[in-house]
Amino acid sequence: MAFVAAPLITPHAATSRSSSSSLFGHRVTPRVVRQTRSVVRASASNGAADAITPEEGPKKRILVLGGDGFCGWPTSLYLSELGHNVIIVDNLSRRKIDLELECDSLTPIQSMTQRVSAWRGVSGQDMRFVMLDVAREYDRLLDLIVREKPDSIIHFAEQRAAPYSMKGSRQKRYTVNNNVCGTHNVLAAVVESGLDVHIVHLGTMGVYGYGTSGGEIPEGYIDVILPGGRQSTILHPAYPGSVYHATKCLDQTLFQFYQKNDALRITDLHQGIVWGTNTDQTLKDERLINRFDYDSDYGTVLNRFLMQSALDVPLTVYGTGGQTRAFIHIKDTARCISIAIANPPKSGAQVEIFNQIAETHRVRDLANLIAKKTGAQIKNISNPRNESAENELEVANRKFLNLGLEPTLLEEGLLDEVTTVAAKYKDRCDKSKILPNSFWNKARRRECEEFGLSASDLGAYSMAEEEAMLLSLSKGNVETMQKLRKVLESTA
Ligand SMILES: NC(=O)c1ccc[n+]([C@@H]2O[C@H](COP(=O)([O-])OP(=O)(O)OC[C@H]3O[C@@H](n4cnc5c(N)ncnc54)[C@H](O)[C@@H]3O)[C@@H](O)[C@H]2O)c1
Repeated sequence: MAFVAAPLITPHAATSRSSSSSLFGHRVTPRVVRQTRSVVRASASNGAADAITPEEGPKKRILVLGGDGFCGWPTSLYLSELGHNVIIVDNLSRRKIDLELECDSLTPIQSMTQRVSAWRGVSGQDMRFVMLDVAREYDRLLDLIVREKPDSIIHFAEQRAAPYSMKGSRQKRYTVNNNVCGTHNVLAAVVESGLDVHIVHLGTMGVYGYGTSGGEIPEGYIDVILPGGRQSTILHPAYPGSVYHATKCLDQTLFQFYQKNDALRITDLHQGIVWGTNTDQTLKDERLINRFDYDSDYGTVLNRFLMQSALDVPLTVYGTGGQTRAFIHIKDTARCISIAIANPPKSGAQVEIFNQIAETHRVRDLANLIAKKTGAQIKNISNPRNESAENELEVANRKFLNLGLEPTLLEEGLLDEVTTVAAKYKDRCDKSKILPNSFWNKARRRECEEFGLSASDLGAYSMAEEEAMLLSLSKGNVETMQKLRKVLESTA
């Protein structure tokens, strides 16, 4: 549809826009958007009557898809501690990708059996684990939904690393197949089950693109004037920066369709980059420890910087470090999800979209913050990503603030927890995994190579290279090689 999206200033758009902002093209200063914090118990915008805190809300049966992951595990524990009946569903594909990348969580995470039994011992709460591939085992997923009759499904179960999604055509195809089929299976299964299940999906701020809005990014929707002067409310234009981000844009379109066609109740959380490692629940027992990714594919920028400072090597900033991104602490991820679950949209209401972020920061400011704290050096290197060198980012997050979120901010003192984790487990770190080895396109790769960075053997490799890698990993043992190939194929 070709239209000129001239924004109207309405509650959908932004109530505190800079006077100079228009939808596209103007720049605003990045800042934390917390100005309406005083309105703590306003009603949600989703047709729900009054905001309900997670503690007050009814106890629910909840399926957590992707509950073995970085966000899913602590969220499952948090919900379980609140008294909800939690069933974790995961196909352990993230752990298989660790094998493929020859890298591991910095923290020694335990098997799902040990995790669940440790939580049972610590909390007395019964939490179950079902190993199931959401993207490929539709019948089992449907059967589980029909059998367990969940009130809510939280959908974390996607391949979530932008660099991994750009590594090569195998990883691009895997990311699209896994993420889009998985999301569609969840939607189709809920419709087929005939149950009224609230779906809460983890999306990303990256669906909006970075530096394209020209003003405050609203929470999902914008009011526009279409050609002919017609007023309409549409999703904010999608502007993905990687194959991974593109899958989240496709997810959004599926949500719009299933809400319109089947009146499904859906909440899409456009989350910023998550930092931090542990939560009050994961700290209760060493066996409950959360994962910490520091490698260039899965490690988010802050974790990579902290790892580098713990290892006493320079913090590597991509390009000028002028990229501005949104951040949220892992404890707030769990809190936001519990708020979303307590406040579902009414049947028939539009897809609810929240911007799940606490604050925005420029990458070079983050590097300076850590350098100041730890005395680390900073080194600017060529950017493996195809992205704007500098961007501004102002994001509305009033909905969660109005529902009672009090975000943890990334002040110097709050970095202590992650710094301690990075220092404690630094002997488990493989330094060679921190520098980039996934490149957005040939030009970025060439520029990085000219700069002196070279893709490792696990970069964008060909079939022949993949065979050679399997041969070397299995030391020529045919049986081991077949097992490794199966692992690779199961993520393809
Ligand atoms: N970590 C972040 O900074 C961040 C930021 C914004 C959005 N998100 C979103 O939050 C969600 C969770 O992110 P995360 O950091 O916990 O990622 P993660 O990779 O640590 O966890 C994802 C989990 O889903 C599982 N999974 C993947 N595909 C599956 C499938 N087909 N069937 C069953 N299980 C499957 C994986 O095994 C893994 O345990 C993702 O959807 C991600 O896009 C994360």
